[in-house]
Amino acid sequence: MTGEGDLRSNLLRSFEACFGEAPEWVARAPGRVNLIGEHTDYNDGFVLPMAIDRGVWVVGRSRGDRTVSVYSLYFDDRREFELDELDRGGDEWIEYVRGVAWALGERGHVLSGWEGVTAGDVPVGAGLSSSAAVEMATARAFHAASGFRWDPREMALAGQRAENEWVGVNSGIMDQMISASGVEGHALLIDCRSLATRAVPLPPGTSVVILDTSTRRGLVGSAYNERRAACEEAARFFGVPALRDVDVATLEARAAEMDPLSLRRARHVVTENQRTLDAAEAMARGDAAEVGRLMNASHASLRDDFEVSRRELDVIVELAQGHAGCHGARMTGAGFGGCAVALVDAAATEGFVREVAAGYEAATRLHPKVYVCAASEGASLERLAETGPAAR
Ligand code: GLA
Repeated sequence: MTGEGDLRSNLLRSFEACFGEAPEWVARAPGRVNLIGEHTDYNDGFVLPMAIDRGVWVVGRSRGDRTVSVYSLYFDDRREFELDELDRGGDEWIEYVRGVAWALGERGHVLSGWEGVTAGDVPVGAGLSSSAAVEMATARAFHAASGFRWDPREMALAGQRAENEWVGVNSGIMDQMISASGVEGHALLIDCRSLATRAVPLPPGTSVVILDTSTRRGLVGSAYNERRAACEEAARFFGVPALRDVDVATLEARAAEMDPLSLRRARHVVTENQRTLDAAEAMARGDAAEVGRLMNASHASLRDDFEVSRRELDVIVELAQGHAGCHGARMTGAGFGGCAVALVDAAATEGFVREVAAGYEAATRLHPKVYVCAASEGASLERLAETGPAAR
Protein backbone atom coordinates (compact mmCIF):
# COMPACT_ATOMS: atom_id res chain seq x y z
CA MET A 1 0.00 0.00 0.00
CA THR A 2 1.29 3.48 -0.80
CA GLY A 3 1.98 6.11 1.86
CA GLU A 4 -1.09 7.99 0.62
CA GLY A 5 -3.27 4.91 1.04
CA ASP A 6 -1.95 4.37 4.57
CA LEU A 7 -2.68 7.93 5.54
CA ARG A 8 -6.18 7.78 4.12
CA SER A 9 -7.14 4.62 5.99
CA ASN A 10 -5.56 5.99 9.13
CA LEU A 11 -7.77 9.08 8.81
CA LEU A 12 -10.90 7.02 8.24
CA ARG A 13 -10.15 4.96 11.35
CA SER A 14 -9.34 8.02 13.43
CA PHE A 15 -12.60 9.67 12.44
CA GLU A 16 -14.62 6.78 13.82
CA ALA A 17 -12.53 6.70 16.98
CA CYS A 18 -12.89 10.45 17.47
CA PHE A 19 -16.52 11.06 16.48
CA GLY A 20 -18.06 7.60 16.96
CA GLU A 21 -19.63 7.40 13.52
CA ALA A 22 -18.59 6.76 9.93
CA PRO A 23 -17.43 9.78 7.92
CA GLU A 24 -19.39 10.94 4.87
CA TRP A 25 -16.69 12.41 2.67
CA VAL A 26 -12.99 12.77 2.03
CA ALA A 27 -11.64 16.15 0.96
CA ARG A 28 -8.09 16.33 -0.37
CA ALA A 29 -5.91 19.13 -1.73
CA PRO A 30 -2.34 18.84 -3.01
CA GLY A 31 0.85 20.75 -2.30
CA ARG A 32 2.69 22.13 -5.30
CA VAL A 33 6.06 22.64 -6.90
CA ASN A 34 6.64 25.57 -9.22
CA LEU A 35 8.53 24.59 -12.38
CA ILE A 36 9.15 28.18 -13.48
CA GLY A 37 7.71 31.68 -12.95
CA GLU A 38 9.06 32.70 -9.55
CA HIS A 39 8.14 35.97 -7.81
CA THR A 40 5.93 36.78 -10.78
CA ASP A 41 2.48 36.03 -9.31
CA TYR A 42 2.25 39.24 -7.25
CA ASN A 43 3.36 41.16 -10.34
CA ASP A 44 0.22 40.00 -12.19
CA GLY A 45 2.50 37.75 -14.24
CA PHE A 46 2.76 34.09 -15.27
CA VAL A 47 3.61 30.95 -13.29
CA LEU A 48 3.95 27.29 -14.31
CA PRO A 49 3.47 25.10 -11.22
CA MET A 50 2.20 21.55 -10.90
CA ALA A 51 0.20 19.98 -8.07
CA ILE A 52 2.18 17.14 -6.47
CA ASP A 53 1.15 13.72 -5.22
CA ARG A 54 1.40 14.85 -1.61
CA GLY A 55 -1.45 16.63 0.04
CA VAL A 56 -3.70 17.42 2.96
CA TRP A 57 -6.83 15.42 3.75
CA VAL A 58 -9.94 16.21 5.70
CA VAL A 59 -12.13 13.20 6.37
CA GLY A 60 -15.45 14.47 7.61
CA ARG A 61 -19.14 14.47 8.23
CA SER A 62 -21.60 17.34 7.84
CA ARG A 63 -23.35 18.44 11.05
CA GLY A 64 -26.14 20.68 9.83
CA ASP A 65 -25.49 23.20 12.62
CA ARG A 66 -22.94 26.02 12.92
CA THR A 67 -20.15 24.20 14.76
CA VAL A 68 -16.85 23.14 13.19
CA SER A 69 -14.93 20.50 15.12
CA VAL A 70 -11.56 19.31 13.82
CA TYR A 71 -8.97 16.87 15.08
CA SER A 72 -5.46 17.21 13.65
CA LEU A 73 -3.52 13.94 13.57
CA TYR A 74 -0.29 15.84 13.02
CA PHE A 75 -0.69 18.01 16.10
CA ASP A 76 -2.73 15.45 18.06
CA ASP A 77 -5.05 18.31 18.92
CA ARG A 78 -8.81 18.79 18.67
CA ARG A 79 -10.37 22.24 18.23
CA GLU A 80 -13.90 23.51 17.89
CA PHE A 81 -15.34 26.85 16.86
CA GLU A 82 -18.69 28.44 16.04
CA LEU A 83 -19.27 29.91 12.59
CA ASP A 84 -21.17 32.74 14.25
CA GLU A 85 -18.25 33.71 16.46
CA LEU A 86 -15.23 33.92 14.23
CA ASP A 87 -12.50 35.62 16.21
CA ARG A 88 -8.86 35.40 15.37
CA GLY A 89 -7.08 33.19 17.90
CA GLY A 90 -3.31 32.82 18.21
CA ASP A 91 -1.06 31.43 15.52
CA GLU A 92 -2.15 27.83 15.80
CA TRP A 93 -3.04 25.43 13.00
CA ILE A 94 -6.79 25.90 13.46
CA GLU A 95 -6.46 29.53 12.26
CA TYR A 96 -6.09 28.21 8.69
CA VAL A 97 -9.47 26.49 9.03
CA ARG A 98 -11.10 29.45 10.77
CA GLY A 99 -9.56 31.87 8.25
CA VAL A 100 -11.04 29.95 5.32
CA ALA A 101 -14.46 29.95 7.04
CA TRP A 102 -14.15 33.70 7.45
CA ALA A 103 -13.02 34.31 3.84
CA LEU A 104 -15.83 32.11 2.42
CA GLY A 105 -18.34 34.01 4.57
CA GLU A 106 -16.92 37.30 3.28
CA ARG A 107 -17.62 36.06 -0.26
CA GLY A 108 -21.27 35.57 0.68
CA HIS A 109 -21.35 31.81 1.21
CA VAL A 110 -23.71 30.54 3.87
CA LEU A 111 -21.75 27.87 5.69
CA SER A 112 -22.75 24.77 7.62
CA GLY A 113 -20.69 23.10 10.32
CA TRP A 114 -18.83 19.79 10.04
CA GLU A 115 -16.60 17.54 12.05
CA GLY A 116 -13.44 16.12 10.61
CA VAL A 117 -10.01 14.63 11.06
CA THR A 118 -7.13 16.15 9.13
CA ALA A 119 -3.58 15.14 8.26
CA GLY A 120 -1.19 15.50 5.35
CA ASP A 121 2.13 14.48 3.88
CA VAL A 122 3.33 17.77 2.41
CA PRO A 123 6.52 18.62 4.31
CA VAL A 124 5.84 21.74 6.37
CA GLY A 125 8.00 24.82 5.81
CA ALA A 126 9.80 23.36 2.78
CA GLY A 127 8.20 25.72 0.26
CA LEU A 128 5.80 23.10 -1.13
CA SER A 129 2.68 25.00 -0.03
CA SER A 130 1.39 22.89 2.80
CA SER A 131 -0.63 25.92 3.92
CA ALA A 132 -2.39 26.34 0.56
CA ALA A 133 -3.15 22.60 0.70
CA VAL A 134 -4.73 23.03 4.14
CA GLU A 135 -6.76 25.98 2.87
CA MET A 136 -8.05 24.22 -0.25
CA ALA A 137 -8.82 20.97 1.61
CA THR A 138 -10.73 23.07 4.15
CA ALA A 139 -12.61 24.87 1.37
CA ARG A 140 -13.55 21.45 -0.04
CA ALA A 141 -14.79 20.40 3.41
CA PHE A 142 -17.03 23.49 3.61
CA HIS A 143 -18.21 22.82 0.07
CA ALA A 144 -19.15 19.26 1.13
CA ALA A 145 -21.00 20.44 4.24
CA SER A 146 -22.64 23.57 2.83
CA GLY A 147 -23.39 22.58 -0.76
CA PHE A 148 -22.21 25.71 -2.55
CA ARG A 149 -20.81 25.35 -6.08
CA TRP A 150 -17.08 24.54 -6.32
CA ASP A 151 -15.38 27.16 -8.44
CA PRO A 152 -11.59 26.66 -8.22
CA ARG A 153 -10.74 30.30 -8.97
CA GLU A 154 -13.11 31.61 -6.38
CA MET A 155 -11.90 29.11 -3.80
CA ALA A 156 -8.29 30.05 -4.53
CA LEU A 157 -9.11 33.72 -3.98
CA ALA A 158 -10.82 32.88 -0.67
CA GLY A 159 -7.79 30.81 0.40
CA GLN A 160 -5.42 33.61 -0.49
CA ARG A 161 -7.53 36.08 1.46
CA ALA A 162 -7.47 33.80 4.51
CA GLU A 163 -3.70 33.55 4.21
CA ASN A 164 -3.18 37.30 3.69
CA GLU A 165 -5.73 38.76 6.06
CA TRP A 166 -6.42 36.10 8.67
CA VAL A 167 -3.13 34.25 9.01
CA GLY A 168 -1.21 37.40 8.05
CA VAL A 169 1.14 36.04 5.36
CA ASN A 170 1.46 38.27 2.33
CA SER A 171 1.53 35.71 -0.50
CA GLY A 172 0.40 35.82 -4.13
CA ILE A 173 -2.27 33.68 -5.78
CA MET A 174 -0.11 30.89 -7.25
CA ASP A 175 -0.22 28.35 -4.42
CA GLN A 176 -3.97 28.33 -3.90
CA MET A 177 -4.67 28.40 -7.65
CA ILE A 178 -2.59 25.31 -8.38
CA SER A 179 -3.84 23.46 -5.30
CA ALA A 180 -7.43 24.17 -6.38
CA SER A 181 -7.01 23.56 -10.14
CA GLY A 182 -4.14 21.13 -10.75
CA VAL A 183 -4.49 18.67 -13.62
CA GLU A 184 -3.05 15.15 -13.42
CA GLY A 185 0.05 14.68 -15.60
CA HIS A 186 0.20 18.38 -16.39
CA ALA A 187 1.71 21.63 -15.26
CA LEU A 188 -0.60 24.64 -15.29
CA LEU A 189 0.28 27.93 -16.94
CA ILE A 190 -1.55 30.49 -14.81
CA ASP A 191 -2.09 34.09 -15.82
CA CYS A 192 -2.09 35.65 -12.35
CA ARG A 193 -3.99 38.71 -13.60
CA SER A 194 -6.96 37.07 -15.32
CA LEU A 195 -6.59 33.72 -13.48
CA ALA A 196 -6.94 31.98 -16.84
CA THR A 197 -5.19 28.61 -16.87
CA ARG A 198 -3.78 26.35 -19.55
CA ALA A 199 -2.76 22.77 -18.77
CA VAL A 200 0.46 21.67 -20.49
CA PRO A 201 1.62 18.05 -20.34
CA LEU A 202 4.98 17.29 -18.75
CA PRO A 203 7.54 16.38 -21.42
CA PRO A 204 7.33 12.64 -22.18
CA GLY A 205 10.03 10.50 -20.59
CA THR A 206 10.91 13.01 -17.87
CA SER A 207 10.44 13.10 -14.14
CA VAL A 208 10.18 16.05 -11.78
CA VAL A 209 12.52 15.76 -8.81
CA ILE A 210 12.21 17.98 -5.75
CA LEU A 211 15.46 18.45 -3.86
CA ASP A 212 14.96 19.72 -0.34
CA THR A 213 18.18 21.36 0.90
CA SER A 214 17.03 20.87 4.52
CA THR A 215 17.64 24.57 5.07
CA ARG A 216 14.72 26.69 6.15
CA ARG A 217 13.99 30.28 5.30
CA GLY A 218 14.56 32.59 8.25
CA LEU A 219 13.32 36.20 7.85
CA VAL A 220 11.52 35.24 4.65
CA GLY A 221 8.50 37.39 5.47
CA SER A 222 10.38 40.66 5.59
CA ALA A 223 12.57 39.84 2.57
CA TYR A 224 9.48 38.76 0.59
CA ASN A 225 7.68 42.00 1.44
CA GLU A 226 10.77 44.00 0.57
CA ARG A 227 10.92 42.32 -2.89
CA ARG A 228 7.23 43.04 -3.45
CA ALA A 229 7.75 46.70 -2.54
CA ALA A 230 10.71 46.96 -4.94
CA CYS A 231 8.57 45.51 -7.75
CA GLU A 232 5.74 47.96 -7.03
CA GLU A 233 8.18 50.84 -7.10
CA ALA A 234 9.59 49.67 -10.43
CA ALA A 235 6.04 49.43 -11.85
CA ARG A 236 5.45 53.04 -10.78
CA PHE A 237 8.65 54.05 -12.54
CA PHE A 238 7.28 52.57 -15.78
CA GLY A 239 3.84 54.11 -15.12
CA VAL A 240 2.05 50.73 -15.32
CA PRO A 241 -0.18 48.85 -12.84
CA ALA A 242 2.28 45.94 -12.49
CA LEU A 243 5.59 44.70 -13.94
CA ARG A 244 3.52 42.28 -16.04
CA ASP A 245 2.93 45.26 -18.32
CA VAL A 246 6.63 45.80 -19.07
CA ASP A 247 8.30 43.79 -21.83
CA VAL A 248 11.99 43.00 -22.21
CA ALA A 249 12.52 45.63 -24.95
CA THR A 250 10.96 48.43 -22.85
CA LEU A 251 13.05 47.42 -19.85
CA GLU A 252 16.24 47.52 -21.91
CA ALA A 253 15.36 50.85 -23.48
CA ARG A 254 14.98 52.52 -20.08
CA ALA A 255 17.60 50.60 -18.10
CA ALA A 256 20.05 53.50 -17.96
CA GLU A 257 17.49 55.69 -16.15
CA MET A 258 17.00 53.19 -13.31
CA ASP A 259 19.01 52.75 -10.17
CA PRO A 260 20.97 49.47 -10.36
CA LEU A 261 19.03 47.65 -7.63
CA SER A 262 15.59 48.49 -9.08
CA LEU A 263 16.84 47.48 -12.49
CA ARG A 264 17.98 44.07 -11.26
CA ARG A 265 14.72 43.38 -9.42
CA ALA A 266 12.60 44.46 -12.39
CA ARG A 267 14.81 42.60 -14.86
CA HIS A 268 14.21 39.34 -13.00
CA VAL A 269 10.43 39.72 -13.12
CA VAL A 270 10.22 40.92 -16.71
CA THR A 271 12.54 38.22 -18.09
CA GLU A 272 10.99 35.53 -15.86
CA ASN A 273 7.54 36.24 -17.28
CA GLN A 274 8.91 35.73 -20.78
CA ARG A 275 10.77 32.55 -19.75
CA THR A 276 7.56 31.17 -18.24
CA LEU A 277 5.56 31.75 -21.41
CA ASP A 278 8.41 30.23 -23.46
CA ALA A 279 8.62 27.22 -21.11
CA ALA A 280 4.89 26.54 -21.49
CA GLU A 281 5.30 26.58 -25.29
CA ALA A 282 8.35 24.31 -25.10
CA MET A 283 6.49 21.95 -22.81
CA ALA A 284 3.47 21.83 -25.10
CA ARG A 285 5.76 20.61 -27.91
CA GLY A 286 7.54 18.15 -25.61
CA ASP A 287 10.89 19.97 -25.75
CA ALA A 288 12.43 19.00 -22.41
CA ALA A 289 15.86 20.42 -23.31
CA GLU A 290 14.41 23.90 -23.86
CA VAL A 291 12.34 23.76 -20.66
CA GLY A 292 15.53 22.80 -18.83
CA ARG A 293 17.52 25.62 -20.37
CA LEU A 294 14.85 28.11 -19.26
CA MET A 295 14.85 26.64 -15.72
CA ASN A 296 18.63 27.14 -15.53
CA ALA A 297 18.27 30.74 -16.70
CA SER A 298 15.53 31.28 -14.10
CA HIS A 299 17.86 30.14 -11.34
CA ALA A 300 20.63 32.50 -12.44
CA SER A 301 18.16 35.38 -12.50
CA LEU A 302 16.78 34.56 -9.02
CA ARG A 303 20.32 34.24 -7.69
CA ASP A 304 21.92 37.29 -9.30
CA ASP A 305 19.11 39.77 -9.99
CA PHE A 306 16.38 38.99 -7.47
CA GLU A 307 18.82 37.73 -4.84
CA VAL A 308 16.56 35.20 -3.13
CA SER A 309 18.80 32.13 -3.36
CA ARG A 310 21.36 30.99 -0.81
CA ARG A 311 24.54 28.93 -0.88
CA GLU A 312 22.89 25.54 -0.25
CA LEU A 313 20.33 26.13 -2.99
CA ASP A 314 23.09 27.14 -5.41
CA VAL A 315 25.12 24.06 -4.47
CA ILE A 316 22.28 21.61 -5.04
CA VAL A 317 21.17 23.35 -8.26
CA GLU A 318 24.71 23.25 -9.68
CA LEU A 319 25.08 19.57 -8.81
CA ALA A 320 21.75 18.85 -10.49
CA GLN A 321 22.54 20.93 -13.58
CA GLY A 322 25.91 19.16 -13.90
CA HIS A 323 24.32 15.69 -14.06
CA ALA A 324 24.13 14.18 -17.53
CA GLY A 325 20.51 13.04 -17.04
CA CYS A 326 19.26 16.49 -16.00
CA HIS A 327 17.57 18.89 -18.43
CA GLY A 328 17.58 21.79 -16.01
CA ALA A 329 17.21 22.81 -12.37
CA ARG A 330 16.42 25.84 -10.27
CA MET A 331 15.43 26.94 -6.80
CA THR A 332 11.66 26.90 -6.36
CA GLY A 333 9.22 28.82 -4.15
CA ALA A 334 9.93 32.02 -2.28
CA GLY A 335 13.63 31.18 -1.79
CA PHE A 336 16.12 31.81 1.02
CA GLY A 337 15.98 28.08 1.78
CA GLY A 338 13.79 25.07 1.09
CA CYS A 339 13.71 23.25 -2.23
CA ALA A 340 15.07 23.15 -5.73
CA VAL A 341 13.32 21.42 -8.62
CA ALA A 342 14.90 19.50 -11.49
CA LEU A 343 13.57 18.10 -14.75
CA VAL A 344 15.30 14.77 -15.26
CA ASP A 345 15.29 11.99 -17.86
CA ALA A 346 13.01 9.35 -16.36
CA ALA A 347 15.53 6.59 -17.09
CA ALA A 348 18.30 8.48 -15.29
CA THR A 349 16.29 9.45 -12.20
CA GLU A 350 17.63 6.83 -9.82
CA GLY A 351 21.28 7.63 -10.49
CA PHE A 352 20.52 11.35 -10.47
CA VAL A 353 18.96 11.18 -7.01
CA ARG A 354 21.83 9.11 -5.63
CA GLU A 355 24.61 11.23 -7.08
CA VAL A 356 23.13 14.65 -6.35
CA ALA A 357 22.28 13.66 -2.77
CA ALA A 358 25.80 12.31 -2.18
CA GLY A 359 27.42 15.41 -3.72
CA TYR A 360 25.25 17.70 -1.64
CA GLU A 361 26.05 15.89 1.60
CA ALA A 362 29.75 16.01 0.83
CA ALA A 363 29.63 19.75 0.08
CA THR A 364 27.39 20.90 2.92
CA ARG A 365 27.28 18.16 5.59
CA LEU A 366 23.49 18.44 5.29
CA HIS A 367 21.21 15.55 4.45
CA PRO A 368 18.85 16.45 1.57
CA LYS A 369 15.37 14.99 1.20
CA VAL A 370 14.37 14.01 -2.30
CA TYR A 371 10.86 13.61 -3.69
CA VAL A 372 10.26 12.26 -7.16
CA CYS A 373 6.83 13.69 -7.86
CA ALA A 374 3.93 12.99 -10.17
CA ALA A 375 1.67 15.84 -11.30
CA SER A 376 -1.65 15.30 -9.55
CA GLU A 377 -5.15 16.71 -9.74
CA GLY A 378 -6.27 19.72 -7.71
CA ALA A 379 -8.55 19.75 -4.67
CA SER A 380 -11.09 16.93 -4.81
CA LEU A 381 -14.04 15.62 -2.89
CA GLU A 382 -15.03 11.99 -2.61
CA ARG A 383 -18.41 11.14 -1.10
CA LEU A 384 -18.32 7.84 0.74
CA ALA A 385 -21.09 5.29 0.41
CA GLU A 386 -22.91 4.67 3.69
CA THR A 387 -21.29 1.31 4.20
CA GLY A 388 -18.20 2.56 2.39
CA PRO A 389 -14.49 2.39 3.15
CA ALA A 390 -14.95 3.71 6.68
CA ALA A 391 -16.69 0.49 7.66
CA ARG A 392 -13.70 -1.58 6.62
C1 GLA B 1 5.60 32.04 -2.15
C2 GLA B 1 4.24 32.69 -2.29
C3 GLA B 1 3.77 32.63 -3.74
C4 GLA B 1 4.85 33.17 -4.69
C5 GLA B 1 6.18 32.51 -4.41
C6 GLA B 1 7.30 33.09 -5.22
O1 GLA B 1 5.50 30.65 -2.40
O2 GLA B 1 3.30 32.04 -1.47
O3 GLA B 1 2.57 33.37 -3.87
O4 GLA B 1 4.92 34.56 -4.61
O5 GLA B 1 6.53 32.63 -3.04
O6 GLA B 1 7.12 32.81 -6.56
